[in-house]
Amino acid sequence: MIIAKNQKAVDTALAKIRQQDEKAKIGLVMTMGALHGGHMTLIAEAKKKCTHVICSIFVNPAQFNNPNDLATYPRTLESDLNLLEDHNCDLVYAPDVDTVYPKGEQPYHIDLEGLDEGMEGTFRPGHFKGVCMVVERFFEMTKPDYAYFGKKDYQQLAIVRKLTAIRQLPIEIIGVSIARAENGLAMSSRNQLLTDAEKEEARLISYALRQGLDFAIHNRSAEQIQEHILSHFEETQFEVEYVAIVHNDTLKPVDHVDDNTTVCIVVYCRTVRLLDNMQFADTLRP
Ligand code: PAJ
Repeated sequence: MIIAKNQKAVDTALAKIRQQDEKAKIGLVMTMGALHGGHMTLIAEAKKKCTHVICSIFVNPAQFNNPNDLATYPRTLESDLNLLEDHNCDLVYAPDVDTVYPKGEQPYHIDLEGLDEGMEGTFRPGHFKGVCMVVERFFEMTKPDYAYFGKKDYQQLAIVRKLTAIRQLPIEIIGVSIARAENGLAMSSRNQLLTDAEKEEARLISYALRQGLDFAIHNRSAEQIQEHILSHFEETQFEVEYVAIVHNDTLKPVDHVDDNTTVCIVVYCRTVRLLDNMQFADTLRP
């Protein structure tokens, strides 16, 4: 496994791959490190279709709207590299901030046609601008054929697809299902900030979503499903930031759910922000 820390090293590694195999298909898995099983499902998906898989590790300051969140974001490079080696990743690209943003923060604009409004866009102002900036930069620096993103960050995946279409990039975006711990908790780098007891109790998040999906079999009212989901968090240690029931593609809130609808949730456990979603097609598809 090659480890590249700057543009020159990654260029050299990629040129060698393309030179040795002109039919090489390069898959990019972008991450912020603190790697876990969820990231590894992306690597495994990429390995299926691509001859070479690059994993990038970069904690992108531009997408953090909360300085404390950036400061406490887990950084575990040593164990990340071991995990990637074990999963047969070919190339790791872990540049520093100056490599990614050599001219500092430049003016950046993209019209995402409303996909960045609502949900994360409401509660993390500026977040998606930072995500788009960094995704565009890594696409430019690594020029992959395929790029893999998790459905766990549902709005992010929709936005990356839109960005790729708007900029007319020759990259196929592939969405990968949410990897969960045995108790149903969606895997996340932020789970490392929870105690074992909290991780166990956080099973409630996926349980509540699943109850919402089951509720929809008899009652399609988005408002009542939302209330049903929220009721599971009353008198618990979890504070719900939002429960949004949206159309799968437009991400606009709906009044009634069908098999093209997704429920997205963000819950705080103390200061740790946990995100999850499920699709109503799981219970409503005939
Ligand atoms: P990060 O949170 O490290 O996630 C990297 C990728 O792994 C994202 O595509 C995310 O959706 C996916 N992922 C995380 N947990 C997952 C899980 N349990 N199941 C499936 N996929 C999962 O998302 C980011 O970093 C950043 O915003 C990034 C895209 C790297 C830009 O900085």
